Amino acid sequence: MKASETKATLSFSNGGQNVELPIYKGTMGPDVIDIRKLYAQTGMFTYDPGFMSTASCESAITYIDGDKGELLYRGYPIEQLATNCDFLETCHLLLYGDLPNAEQKTTFTKLVTNHTMVNEQMQFFLRGFRRDAHPMAIMTGLVGAMSAFYHDSTDITNPKHREIAAIRLIAKMPTLVAMAYKYTVGQPYMYPKNDLSYAGNFLHMMFATPCEEYKVSPVLERALDRIFILHADHEQNASTSTVRLCGSSGTNPFAAIAAGVACLWGPAHGGANEAALNMLYDIQKAGGVEKIGEFIKQVKDKNSSVKLMGFGHRVYKNYDPRAKLMQETCREVLGELGLENDPLFKLAMALEKIALEDEYFVSRKLYPNVDFYSGIVQRAIGIPVPLFTAIFALARTVGWIAQLNEMIGDPDYKIGRPRQLFEGSSKRDVKPIAQR
Ligand code: SDX
Repeated sequence: MKASETKATLSFSNGGQNVELPIYKGTMGPDVIDIRKLYAQTGMFTYDPGFMSTASCESAITYIDGDKGELLYRGYPIEQLATNCDFLETCHLLLYGDLPNAEQKTTFTKLVTNHTMVNEQMQFFLRGFRRDAHPMAIMTGLVGAMSAFYHDSTDITNPKHREIAAIRLIAKMPTLVAMAYKYTVGQPYMYPKNDLSYAGNFLHMMFATPCEEYKVSPVLERALDRIFILHADHEQNASTSTVRLCGSSGTNPFAAIAAGVACLWGPAHGGANEAALNMLYDIQKAGGVEKIGEFIKQVKDKNSSVKLMGFGHRVYKNYDPRAKLMQETCREVLGELGLENDPLFKLAMALEKIALEDEYFVSRKLYPNVDFYSGIVQRAIGIPVPLFTAIFALARTVGWIAQLNEMIGDPDYKIGRPRQLFEGSSKRDVKPIAQR
């Protein structure tokens, strides 16, 4: 980061000493005011619950312009990556900083492919769960459990360990998600097949059975690969910040990524794709398009906790570029599958149109986000609704581990330890129980 000539001066109306704070500029986006010395100089903290105005780190991985609705992975627009690259090229980009050439792509693909199997012992973890366990409950357990197997890549301070842990996590997430799914439907696990693509291998592990050959549909393979690209990274969102904070204690990468899985599960975050599809089902069941008005009324009613799931975003105050690409993928996949009249897709587009013309949403700059359409295309691919967020976690693992490795790779990083504004009881003495 580059120091700006402009400084920030903090002055106090009670005549307290002014404080001068340096301002730094990045390549793009808002400048930052460096407050690291503020507490030492003033004895005061800044106050920013929810981090509405806080940059927690410097990063070179993903840039978002919320007003323009722009998303760049290492400088490349998401629209170009989603149409010209595949997920493994995007993983190489996020991890190492640039797209691979043909030879690098072959080497990287082979490296990931050769790490897709999980230790045979891992299957015994699943037996402890009920068959109707939510896949994200299983994934939170399985990802954390990986640290019990890969002791040769748990020293986060060792760059070689960091790299092999990254490859293992990217390679094994599809295998673990498919196992979580097979467990819930009582079918045997399918082993990875090294002659399939990353997305094709996932489809095979999900939908093949030992009883007959399973042919991977190129349409579904491409759609899934694009879904993975769209979910790969997204700056300092809640789950990425969780991974960074968790990893800042020096814990192993598998434990830090498990923390990210747990955070992503929430309906305000990655759990929104499952919630958005269930919302569409509910409107459909209640009567479909003609019931949209009633639903929107509920959303606008402050006393109801009903939200339009898949809408709104902390950063995007314009259309989420991923939602546009997801809608396009929806149209393509439904068209290829002869489902262009899919009622849920039509309902989603009608709901979006009505919301985008409604003052409540316009005034709050609420637009569809990545989760609004992703459920419809995943459902068309045959992914069960409860697995949507696990697919999001599968795709986001590369972003999480790239961000974690970027932080740990910076020799100046410190353990994250925020402070608070204390509003509890002042000091008091314990009374004997007879006097309480
Ligand atoms: C993801 O951060 C990331 O980058 C996340 C993500 C990623 O790739 O990692 O992009 C993935 O998590 C996408 C977001 C998925 N979540 C949802 O779709 C759930 C529904 N959306 C909301 O919960 C909400 O929009 C958030 C959580 C996404 C953002 O919330 P903010 O930034 O804290 O905004 P807010 O709650 O303060 O909302 C501002 C106003 C409020 O109304 P007022 O109090 O001003 O009257 O907008 C309203 C909110 O009530 N509002 C909504 C709404 N989202 C915000 N009202 C109805 N429906 C919604 N979806």
